[in-house]
Amino acid sequence: MTIQGKKIVLGITGGIAAYKTPELVRQLTAAGAEVSVVMSRSAHRFVTATSLQAVSGRAVRDDLWDSSAEAAMGHIELARSADCILIAPATAHSCAKLAQGEADDLLSTLCLAAPCPIAIAPAMNQQMWQHPAVQRNIEQLRSDGVLIWGPDSGDLACGDVGPGRMAEPTELVAEIEALFGPQRLKGARVLITAGPTREPLDPVRFISNQSSGKQGFALAEAALGAGAEVTLVSGPVEIATPRGATRIDVTTAREMHDSVMATVGDHDIFIGVAAVADFRPDAVRAEKIKKASGHHAMSLELVENPDIIAAVAARPDRPLAIGFAAETEHILEHAREKLARKGLDLIVVNDVSDRRIGFDSDDNEVTLVTVDVEHTVPLASKRVVSRAIIERIADLYEQTTSPRSRQGRSARKL
Ligand code: PMT
Repeated sequence: MTIQGKKIVLGITGGIAAYKTPELVRQLTAAGAEVSVVMSRSAHRFVTATSLQAVSGRAVRDDLWDSSAEAAMGHIELARSADCILIAPATAHSCAKLAQGEADDLLSTLCLAAPCPIAIAPAMNQQMWQHPAVQRNIEQLRSDGVLIWGPDSGDLACGDVGPGRMAEPTELVAEIEALFGPQRLKGARVLITAGPTREPLDPVRFISNQSSGKQGFALAEAALGAGAEVTLVSGPVEIATPRGATRIDVTTAREMHDSVMATVGDHDIFIGVAAVADFRPDAVRAEKIKKASGHHAMSLELVENPDIIAAVAARPDRPLAIGFAAETEHILEHAREKLARKGLDLIVVNDVSDRRIGFDSDDNEVTLVTVDVEHTVPLASKRVVSRAIIERIADLYEQTTSPRSRQGRSARKL
């Protein structure tokens, strides 16, 4: 087990999802971790310290002023010795405190004093989760390097349906295992495109699509977690750059093409997640297009954009080339056709007619298609799906960097 002997501090704050934490502690200890539980004052309203002490086999702490523990500066000792702090559930209030760097209780003080990775599993009502203030705090935490695991979408304790459920204990254990797992892409340089492109018509209008960038950015995070150096070429999106990634912002398909071509030579792996516009208006009008009276229709002349991923795969020094396919029918046939036509090593296909997955959703379900193997990753958060994709990419990368295949790498053909 990858987390055998790891010292995990589990911070529990006051939300209804706290009822899941004894099970989380049980699974972590069963996997070999040493779990120390720290509770906020309001966490006691949802779960008892007695239960948590029983499942962790350790005294539960909740007081910065505990004289027996603090005689030896216990909070600093706990912070220093932890391999990871996970706050689950993380309430809106605890996220705000962490984002502000407050230290008014044991858990928040520990977080400031700990040199180890900190992860949070947010859990709250969906309206609260989507509130700009909460999202601002989450973006602040993300850019401070805090790992954000969840929330999941679904039925909430308050009766609402939407994003806000704490990630399940099994998922959180898998996240911690991945955190301490082997860094299979250590030393590899990965270039990822993400988000939509915008193709302008006139100074105020453009043609685009609903890509949010969530899938591409989740893959960037997973690749960073696997030890890779990551460059993200992103269309216009509203998400924070994963810590450690180098981000290049672009707007149009041709800008994305030029940025990719300028940088891909320094990369070992290319992953095209972006929803690139296949066509653009043949000319961008200098002035806003006016509605002419008496005309009830207008036509637009479109010209083809360069196919970025096909151009990458055609290079003599090509990296491992992975594409995505957004399909609505005959998805596997279309994916296989794109794999061959674009000359890719792997294509990841998602059925974007399913509203639960694909464009602008938190979840995805994909099939990984190579010339000889098809493997489906079941419905899960884009974070979890991305880890599975990165594992498969690491398999292919290890094959291509093995001494035997290294020789023929530049001549690799499907
Ligand atoms: O961003 P999200 O909201 O999280 O949504 C994720 C997603 C649905 C955008 C993602 O999972 C996805 O399917 N991305 C591929 C979208 C797409 O454009 O698919 P395609 O089948 O049209 O293109 C196939 C491949 O060719 C893709 O790797 C694409 O990046 C690439 N391509 C397409 C056209 C073009 N001119 N150049 C390209 O490189």
